[in-house]
Amino acid sequence: MNSIIELIEKIVESENLIRLVLGNKRKKSSLCRKVTVRPFNSSGGLMYQAEYVYEKKVMHENLTGAELCELIPDLIHNEFRQANIFTAEADYQILAAKPDKPRISELPPSMKAQSNTHDNVKKYIIPDGKPCDFLIRLGVMNDAGQVLHKHYRKFRQINRFLEIAGDVIDYLPKDRTLKIIDFGCGKAYLTFALYYYLNKELGMDVDIVGLDLKADVIQFCSETASSLGYDGLRFEIGDIAEYKDTHADMVVTLHACDTATDFALINAKNWNASVILSVPCCQHELFSQMKNELHSPMLRQGILRERFCAILTDTVRQLKLEEWGYDVSMIEFTSLEHTAKNIMIRAVNTGKPKLSSKEQLVKITDYWNVRPTIVVCDR
Ligand SMILES: C[S@@+](CC[C@H](N)C(=O)[O-])C[C@H]1O[C@@H](n2cnc3c(N)ncnc32)[C@H](O)[C@@H]1O
Repeated sequence: MNSIIELIEKIVESENLIRLVLGNKRKKSSLCRKVTVRPFNSSGGLMYQAEYVYEKKVMHENLTGAELCELIPDLIHNEFRQANIFTAEADYQILAAKPDKPRISELPPSMKAQSNTHDNVKKYIIPDGKPCDFLIRLGVMNDAGQVLHKHYRKFRQINRFLEIAGDVIDYLPKDRTLKIIDFGCGKAYLTFALYYYLNKELGMDVDIVGLDLKADVIQFCSETASSLGYDGLRFEIGDIAEYKDTHADMVVTLHACDTATDFALINAKNWNASVILSVPCCQHELFSQMKNELHSPMLRQGILRERFCAILTDTVRQLKLEEWGYDVSMIEFTSLEHTAKNIMIRAVNTGKPKLSSKEQLVKITDYWNVRPTIVVCDR
């Protein structure tokens, strides 16, 4: 049964289902003869419609991906002996005469996605099924290029990040080596991905530095980069707040905790970086500072206080960036299903400081009685 659950989860994660048909009912007495599932686009994203065929009627039910992952194994276990699944990458047949010993076979794909089912079957910048050196080295893919089920979320996150990076390339200088710094790179899946995409795929001349406090992580990343022959990718041990370099065209900082994000943004502004991509997390700094009589009912509740603290912190960052002359958009990085830390600050340097944001920032910090690092340490 686990293998069926894993297969359905993988198909849902990769968003490449074309059609799924359940038939050959287990009990003669069952009223439902067949179930067919098709994906469709809704305003909230990809959904699935299950069509239940009875003797004299047909019924429909709309499902999320998570609901589909629960429903299909359950139907195979209790109602149907056979499932045929058609995806953009492969066909699968599940024969489950004995519910606990299903046989799953995989064949080349026989169906093409139709525009009226799911017109944008996800095309990843780095596709599943094609070997990619750094993903193999980091254990996300096997040697044949197949993404391991347990790393599918990371795989999607990497591709989402590259999509966002691809959208800001036009704002970066074209006439010289691009200098990019990833502050708080950690194990650097996304730093490697950025190098791979810009250098190996797009042929751009890049000098990328990944910086982190952790010596063991930096050693691992440096060895990996050199074994892959990624010459323009370096890793350094260091603290974002102390980091001194001459410049960067693009500053990336993904999930660097609390005020580390502020120091990354301040560095970016001091270097007049063209682009900043930042996913803040653990916004704790203002938690104990926030004071406001009118909002005291909200501030009394720890969970509300914590959530609001994150929103206020990122609003302050937005205003500061605008004051510095950046055009700021807050975009969804990964689906909320995966992590609550999913807001990315995407800032593009326009060279036109916004006075109104400077004024709003003063009002808002006074109103909440806070002294954020990005304000105090801006110089
Ligand atoms: C949650 S991990 C994120 C790793 C990676 N950026 C990602 O999104 O997958 C945060 C990393 O930031 C690093 N970090 C936190 N504060 C830092 C600082 N002041 N200077 C350098 N690195 C820092 C931590 O050591 C950790 O590896």
